[in-house]
Amino acid sequence: MNKEEKYIQLLSCVQSLIEGESNLIANLANIAAAIKQSLGYFWVGFYIAESDQLVLGPFQGPVACTRINYGRGVCGAAWKQGSTIIVPDVELFPGHIACSSLSRSEIVVPFSKNGSIAGVLDIDHTEIGTFDKIDASYLEQITKMI
Ligand code: SME
Repeated sequence: MNKEEKYIQLLSCVQSLIEGESNLIANLANIAAAIKQSLGYFWVGFYIAESDQLVLGPFQGPVACTRINYGRGVCGAAWKQGSTIIVPDVELFPGHIACSSLSRSEIVVPFSKNGSIAGVLDIDHTEIGTFDKIDASYLEQITKMI
């Protein structure tokens, strides 16, 4: 299966995982696991907005930093600008927060609740240039289901 085919399958998997369940943490946990299982990326997880910080939520992968200030790192920047950020090479992103030295590229997709940004989906991988418009498009569809 190519990446797009994996995402198409993932969308219906996520849909059936979260329909009928209203608990946010449970749904974010299963979404992170489903993405990791399907695409095999290095780190997949959520940060949840709490006043002026993002706080670590459900994730799959190695331990990560727990709090990110508004506007800081890739996650804080995506929160501030309110849209997806693709980073082909994390070493070239000023202010990138390195939770793992193995992470080389990253995509961050904000998600909203009641009209304001409630958090971000953050995915890291160990190879440069992993993420593209296909990832952005499908991950945005997934975050809209939250
Ligand atoms: N690299 C992120 C921090 C979170 S970890 O990747 C899990 C950033 O720069 O915001």
